[in-house]
Formats: sequence, structure tokens, C-alpha cells
Amino acid sequence: MNSLKGKVVLITGASSGVGAALAREFSKREARVVLTARRFERLQEVIRHCPNETLGVRCDVTDTKDRQNLINQILDRWKKIDILVNNAGSGMYGSLESIDEKEIRDLFEINILSTIFLTRLVLPTMKKQGEGLIINISSIAGLVAHSNNVAAYISTKHAVIGFSRGLVKDLQGTGIRVIVVCPHLISTEFFESSTGAQEMSEIIEKLRSRMDSPDQVAQGILDQIFLERFIIFPTEMSERVYHKFRDI
Ligand SMILES: NC(=O)c1ccc[n+]([C@@H]2O[C@H](COP(=O)([O-])OP(=O)(O)OC[C@H]3O[C@@H](n4cnc5c(N)ncnc54)[C@H](OP(=O)(O)O)[C@@H]3O)[C@@H](O)[C@H]2O)c1
Repeated sequence: MNSLKGKVVLITGASSGVGAALAREFSKREARVVLTARRFERLQEVIRHCPNETLGVRCDVTDTKDRQNLINQILDRWKKIDILVNNAGSGMYGSLESIDEKEIRDLFEINILSTIFLTRLVLPTMKKQGEGLIINISSIAGLVAHSNNVAAYISTKHAVIGFSRGLVKDLQGTGIRVIVVCPHLISTEFFESSTGAQEMSEIIEKLRSRMDSPDQVAQGILDQIFLERFIIFPTEMSERVYHKFRDI
């Protein structure tokens, strides 16, 4: 695969931030984009800025029935799925003892289990096609411990990279490639909607001017997807930050 023209691209978490920027960017590059998230009216807004054919599907990616319905709708409409972007995710800030067990379980549901389960649903189609690309959005937190009080989040993002490594091995010879993306801080709603957002807000405001924008991240990803790389740092800043923390 070396062109996006006519490709069917499924993006989770497309109602805001990186997912919305990726939807616009893939669409600009002539892909047919499936946008999914829980907030349907927000998906509709993003769709208005996509110049090519789109399909918007409301889906909670942690819900088994929603995931199956999503895949059925795509296959009914376009009969194929060329690219899956597992982007939907959430954050968690705070000392481990202060966070409820349920909230930690929910974080694993959204950040890693939904990625595993959606990938499982897409694989039979990609295997039949003999071609496909799976892009898993991790973080530099998937490679290093970049901050205090985010241990649970760090473990979910390390799991995304571990899962992706396993997939690369399992998918050898199938024509399906796997990429993980490791961004640094991005200025999105993530810092308002994540668990512990309130406690984080002062630190985040100080860092805001050094964050990448979702559009920079989306462009950085799309500029590199055809390179034979497993890990993508979408911007120079993300690569620099990774090298700064890598000995820890
Ligand atoms: N922001 C950062 O600094 C940063 C850095 C590194 C990596 N990342 C990663 O980048 C990805 C995107 O984050 P972002 O910064 O763009 O955050 P964001 O603006 O908060 O977007 C998160 C997206 O995930 C969706 N989502 C959350 N729970 C969902 C669920 N149960 N089912 C379906 N969709 C769900 C949200 O949509 P609905 O609420 O409408 O469902 C939203 O579209 C995440 O995986 C995050 O971990 C972010």
C-alpha cells in the first residue's frame, strides 16, 4: 500500500483531538474515512471538515455490541477495511492509592482492551484482503516513565506497544503492517476529560505552550506511514523528549 486514494480508514476517537485531526488529514489525502466515538454530534462537526466520502458511526469502543455493529456497517457500505487507527483513549493523573479500582479497570478497557478487541474484529477482513495497516496510538509514556503520578496510564500505553510487537510477529507474511505512534504532549481535550484533570490543570497550563497541536501530530503520522518503521514519533519534539527520558 503506498497511496491513500480510495482506502477505507477506520479511526476511533474521531470526535476530538488527534482522532479528529487524523480524520481531516486522511480525508484530504483522498481516503474514505469512518469516524467513530460516543459523541455523535461532535463526529458530525468533524465530518463537515472532511472533503472526501465519510461514514460516522456512534460507538463506545469498550462495548462488544457497539464494536460489532461498527464493523458490520463498514463492511455493508464499503466491503473492506484498509487501515485501522486505534486512537480512542483517556488519561489518568493522581497517586495510585487515591484512584478507585473501577477507574483503573475502565482505563485499561479503553486504552488497551478495546484496541485488542477491535483489532481482532478487523483482522479476518484484512487477512482476506492480503493487505492492511494497523496504527496504534500509544505515547512516549509507552516507552518511558516521563512523569510522576501517571503509573496506571504508563502501564496501559506500554501494553499498547507490547500488543503491537506481538501482532507484528503474528502477522508476518499476511501483508498486514503494524505501526505504533508515540506522541509527546498534545494540546487536546484529553487534559480536561481525563481522571485527575483538576489536579493536573496547573501543571498543564504551564506546559501548554510547549505542546504539539493535533494537526501537527496528524500530519507527522501521515507523512511517515509508508516508511518501513514500527515506531513513529509524529513530531521532532516527541522524538527529543523520548531521548531525554530514555535512560530512566
Ligand atoms: N493529549 C496528549 O498529550 C497525548 C499524548 C500522547 C498520546 N495521546 C493519546 O492520543 C489519543 C487521543 O487523545 P487526544 O489527546 O486526542 O484526546 P481527546 O481529545 O480527549 O480524544 C479522545 C477521543 O477518544 C474518544 N473516546 C474516549 N472514550 C471512548 C469510548 N469509550 N468509546 C469511544 N471513543 C472514546 C473520545 O470521544 P467521545 O468522548 O466522543 O467518545 C475522543 O474522541 C489517546 O489514545 C491518548 O492516550 C495523547
